[in-house]
Amino acid sequence: MSKIPVMIDADPGIDDAIAIIMLAAAENVDIKAITTTHGNVGLEGTTKNALALKDFLGIDCIVAKGADRPMIVPLKNASEIHGANGLAGYELPAPASVPSEEKAWDVMYTLAKEAQGEMTLVVLGPMTNTAIAILKYPDFKNYIKRIYMMGGSRGHGNHSQNAEFNIWGDPHACQVVLKSGIPITMADLDFTFSNAITGAEMKELYSYGKKLKPMLDAFVAHDTKRCMRQAEATGTVADFDSYKIVICDSSASAALLLDGDCLETEDYYVVCETQSSENEGQTVFDYKGHLKGEANVQLCMKIDREKYLGLIRDAVAHFE
Ligand code: RIB
Repeated sequence: MSKIPVMIDADPGIDDAIAIIMLAAAENVDIKAITTTHGNVGLEGTTKNALALKDFLGIDCIVAKGADRPMIVPLKNASEIHGANGLAGYELPAPASVPSEEKAWDVMYTLAKEAQGEMTLVVLGPMTNTAIAILKYPDFKNYIKRIYMMGGSRGHGNHSQNAEFNIWGDPHACQVVLKSGIPITMADLDFTFSNAITGAEMKELYSYGKKLKPMLDAFVAHDTKRCMRQAEATGTVADFDSYKIVICDSSASAALLLDGDCLETEDYYVVCETQSSENEGQTVFDYKGHLKGEANVQLCMKIDREKYLGLIRDAVAHFE
């Protein structure tokens, strides 16, 4: 089977880890690089986690460090969601691998050029590295076959009223990528929420984990605590089995792996708000053509749920 070359730009991150596991387990994917960015936690943390995942999963790829801050807006993080170390406090074995001496955007360009236009880029965090690659290398866009991104929101945001965290984390970078002309498949927040699973489903899926079991158990424990905190805050009874959990980044990996007849998308012209303090990072979908822009995004609308859950189940079972 011919493999598709893939680079992953991420801020691991609990859901980044699941997304990376799905791609590492896929027999038709050849991960060429994992590049790291600021995001869920700081760059040193996301890079440590990427190196640890690379070694633990046995991924033969380059790990390269990228931006430690956004292009213009202040640095943010989501450690309240992912834990201080980015992986729900779980410590993978210390990695033997070290990051490349080269910066993420330089590695992205070199590998994309080597793949001669066949490279797929999966972006799971703020898009700073991708934007820098686009700005530094004018021909970079010619070598990226498609970007699968987790980011944006056609509705409300999660880390601000109207902005989803990855885009809120660097709205200017998102705008650079949206204007680049690179084909984009967007797994926005609404799409990821449509793929939410219950605590019972999570426990079933993760029960197939072997080598990954200790980390997956830590992730379940982490979400169980979140469920209990939410119940306490709302004065309700904690019921983890029916608690809704969104593994956001896994939807981007699933979009890549199931693209075609298992994934429904709609084409839209999308821009990112970079001027307004209240709406900074909002992705604006031009539903009625008022902005008169040519469609630049395939927005994920629906995925075959059984196939999506099967990808996660098979991926966690793959590593022994
Ligand atoms: O809004 C969800 C996104 O923000 C995911 O990529 C998650 O890892 C966080 O970075």
